[in-house]
Amino acid sequence: MIGAGVMGRGIARVFAAAGHRVRIADLDPATAAGAVASLAADLDGAVTRGRMTAEQRDGILEGVEAVGSAEDAAAGADVVVEAIVEDLAAKQALFVRLQGAAPAGAILATNTSALSIDAIAAATDRPARVLGLHFFNPAHRMPLVEVVVGDRTAPDVAARAEALCQAAGKETVQVRDRPGFATSRLSALLGNEAMWMLEEEVAAAADIDKAARLGLGHPMGPLELGDLVGLDVRLTVLRHLHETLGERFRPAPLLERYVAEGRLGRKAGRGVYDYEDE
Ligand code: NAI
Repeated sequence: MIGAGVMGRGIARVFAAAGHRVRIADLDPATAAGAVASLAADLDGAVTRGRMTAEQRDGILEGVEAVGSAEDAAAGADVVVEAIVEDLAAKQALFVRLQGAAPAGAILATNTSALSIDAIAAATDRPARVLGLHFFNPAHRMPLVEVVVGDRTAPDVAARAEALCQAAGKETVQVRDRPGFATSRLSALLGNEAMWMLEEEVAAAADIDKAARLGLGHPMGPLELGDLVGLDVRLTVLRHLHETLGERFRPAPLLERYVAEGRLGRKAGRGVYDYEDE
């Protein structure tokens, strides 16, 4: 596992809990060590709440190790999963290092939420072994993994990666390497439409969200979800989809305005909704 941030530690937990040995590395070694410590603390909590036994906790923790570099993590690995910063050049540079460090037959997976798998794979001499494994936050709780198959990903690599995720208790979908994959594309369009509806005063924000929750069975409304994800993040995704997929993804003017005003969602205390009193 390369990258020990929000997603890296969650993904490491998924595979460790499934009985795999996991080595985790980060640019910052203290972050990698912190990932193992926070996993230990989470598992202690699970033992206290009676959700697992102390033996199960110890079994998981025995399999997880923080190491000093990406090369150390990749050496001898069957599968390498990358969850570093969402930046194409950084991911390409890492994958070049991984191809030198990982066994020739290893699967090289990226957890990118929006970058092209083909563009990452093109930096390597083994594009057939590269694919996307798109986990969701929190990775150990969210059931889905989008298995993103690049134009040059070998079918047996996709099949092996999918089986690995399923064996770790995940549901999978196979998606071609197109902008926004399946989930980001659907979510961006719905969130954007909700912003248009708000601007056109079709209904109040709370009623638009309630309609989605109670009428469509969504666990969260599109506006509250936008506030949670961050309206700036949502706008960046929409701009990318607008550029690559066309007019139907043009960001709603109200979304542009909120972001320009610093109304970025929960993290800023204000987005579509006001959180200042929370
Ligand atoms: P984060 O910022 O929490 O963690 C990224 C970690 O990568 C940091 O600890 C950083 O020190 C490390 N890092 C950066 N460059 C590195 C390098 N060259 N080598 C080794 N480590 C390096 O980010 P987060 O949220 O975990 O996201 C990681 C990836 O997962 C991104 O590609 C993101 O788009 C994707 N993703 C994020 C989701 C989320 O909800 N946060 C959901 C699904 C995918």
